[in-house]
Amino acid sequence: MIHGPDELLNDYKSQIAVTRDEKELEQVRVALFGNSGAMTNLIKEIPGLPKEERSDRGRLLNGIKQQLEGAIAARLGELRVERLADIVETEAIDITFPGPPLGQGHLHVLTQVRRQIETVLESLGYQVELGPEVETEWYNFEALNLTAGHPARENWDSFYFTPELLLRAHTSPVQIRAMQRIKEPPIYIITPGRCYRRDAPEATRLPYFSQVEGLAIDRALTVGDMKGTLLYMIQSLYGIERKVRVRPSYFPFTEPSFEFDVTCGICNGMGCKSCRHKGWLEVGGCGMVHPQVLRNGGIDPTEWNGYAWGFGIERMAMLKHDVDDIRLFYESDLRFLEQF
Ligand code: DAH
Repeated sequence: MIHGPDELLNDYKSQIAVTRDEKELEQVRVALFGNSGAMTNLIKEIPGLPKEERSDRGRLLNGIKQQLEGAIAARLGELRVERLADIVETEAIDITFPGPPLGQGHLHVLTQVRRQIETVLESLGYQVELGPEVETEWYNFEALNLTAGHPARENWDSFYFTPELLLRAHTSPVQIRAMQRIKEPPIYIITPGRCYRRDAPEATRLPYFSQVEGLAIDRALTVGDMKGTLLYMIQSLYGIERKVRVRPSYFPFTEPSFEFDVTCGICNGMGCKSCRHKGWLEVGGCGMVHPQVLRNGGIDPTEWNGYAWGFGIERMAMLKHDVDDIRLFYESDLRFLEQF
């Protein structure tokens, strides 16, 4: 079909306007500007024209070519916008729709209790002191008066790497390390941390657990100072109505030594099933630091004395939240953990 240039312009402009997608538009573009496209053919005819017509013809065709190219570019833009609008409609993405709520975690109950203990004792001037979990025989036992063959050692059945190296069985070795590091009393430290013993897991015991140890060294400290400090700690954690008591006991690193009890929070000391009708629950051990332990830490027992305690953090959490099985703390069951 022979087209005059104006006819061609109008014809293709309307073709361009009704294309439905980019593929159709591309077909129109090829029909115009491809190797044997309509526009290409008209341009090819120019050299065959009489000389004086050529430049007018060239200018005319060039103008038409530009208009058509512009129309194609404009239509391409429209088609792209239409396609996006289509996607938005068919896939119905509402970018203002709120996403699903993110679950928010919180501190593990044992971490909460440990931090509460730290906060209370820091308010009394104690500093947190940490020690290694892999300990030497000397710090874990010897320096604490638990010499080889001492019958009390069986209370601390331990995991050994070598005859010299073991997983610490309690936080008490940090007492010695603290004395050696600080050197000059007064010393007021607490040392929280993980301990390990060769115990089978049970409702009240695990082979790994945490303790918080306390150590005070000053001039002329008394059992009264110790009991008052621990009473303050217990009442800060459990409430002012709680009472405490110390019962004579034995530890090689303290003299005298005590077991430390707190009134049962469920019956308020009256006796109930939870405390096996005793009214009291045991929290840990304490006592006045043995002079030989001070000496082992490099401190002169004729000038200084002190008290110390070692409580189980799981035990303290169990008392606080009335949990009856220590294993629950380590099972990572969210139904348990989310209660705290
Ligand atoms: N280390 C002891 C234990 O693991 C607890 C203990 C008792 C620590 C008396 C002390 C203390 O500091 O004075 O059973």
